[in-house]
Amino acid sequence: MSLVKVKNLKISFKQYDNIVHAVRGISFEINQGESLGIVGESGSGKSVTFMTVMGLMNSPTSIVEADLIEIDGINVLDQSKENIKKIRGKIAAMVFQDSMTSFDPLHTIGYQIAETIITHKNIDKKEALKKAEHLLERVEIQNADKVLNYYPHQLSGGMLQRSMIAMALSCEPKLLIADEPTTALDVTVQAQILQLLTDIQQETNMSFVMITHDLGVIAETVDRVLVMYSGKIMENSNVFDIFNQPKHPYTKALIDSIPGREPGKKRLKEISKEDRDLWYAGT
Ligand SMILES: Nc1ncnc2c1ncn2[C@@H]1O[C@H](COP(=O)(O)OP(=O)(O)O)[C@@H](O)[C@H]1O
Ligand SMILES: [Mg+2]
Repeated sequence: MSLVKVKNLKISFKQYDNIVHAVRGISFEINQGESLGIVGESGSGKSVTFMTVMGLMNSPTSIVEADLIEIDGINVLDQSKENIKKIRGKIAAMVFQDSMTSFDPLHTIGYQIAETIITHKNIDKKEALKKAEHLLERVEIQNADKVLNYYPHQLSGGMLQRSMIAMALSCEPKLLIADEPTTALDVTVQAQILQLLTDIQQETNMSFVMITHDLGVIAETVDRVLVMYSGKIMENSNVFDIFNQPKHPYTKALIDSIPGREPGKKRLKEISKEDRDLWYAGT
């Protein structure tokens, strides 16, 4: 069963006299329980796509068009702002790269997670704090009872990202979207957080979207991969085929750019004009 359906989504931005076409007619579906990687270089349209799916695209210069954006049977395009808020949290939640900006510096972590729970569930403050503590334990934070009383600036980057994941999970969403959740962290912490997200996804059977510019990051964590380039979907295949039979030169370049796969090659290869013309002709 499809939890998310997106048909012919186009996102543009007005810029002075110009229009920037950030997303140029993409369609995809996400099944219940499926984990999907969205890969593409910076600027390819990954974040704006999922901000729009979540009803978070509120830039005054944005123009969003789509035949359909549906989450759990609800057409996102038809909903009021209030309804969209309900969808967020309860049906779908998103974790961002910079978790520091997602927390209010003036309130403790426990308070903020508890408040989110209270907004969506009819329970009292004490119960909500207990639930927040369990969530912090679930994301493997040591001394969760103490951390509840910490302010965001008292936590390390990795701990903050774990707390952000706890907050996202607090309303038991059917879909979790993680937008470059580990990019700002060092490699060891990155691996731990990815493992945590994978474990939680398998345990809860929620759908999971992992957005990254680094194909290496998702190789072992997702079922299927969408490769985006310049606002289009270049490839949509299971993760095995992406690595073993990449169809597009761009996907091959992404694979070659994974550090450690081919010694010495760390940068993305430049795409030749011929290749680019070929894709546009075919898409
Ligand atoms: N608020 C905005 N105003 C103008 N252009 C934007 C805005 N947000 C994103 N863009 C542009 O849309 C394109 C896609 O951005 P984004 O989805 O953030 O890329 P990615 O997440 O793949 O790195 C980029 O060219 C970016 O500059
Ligand atoms: Mg992005």
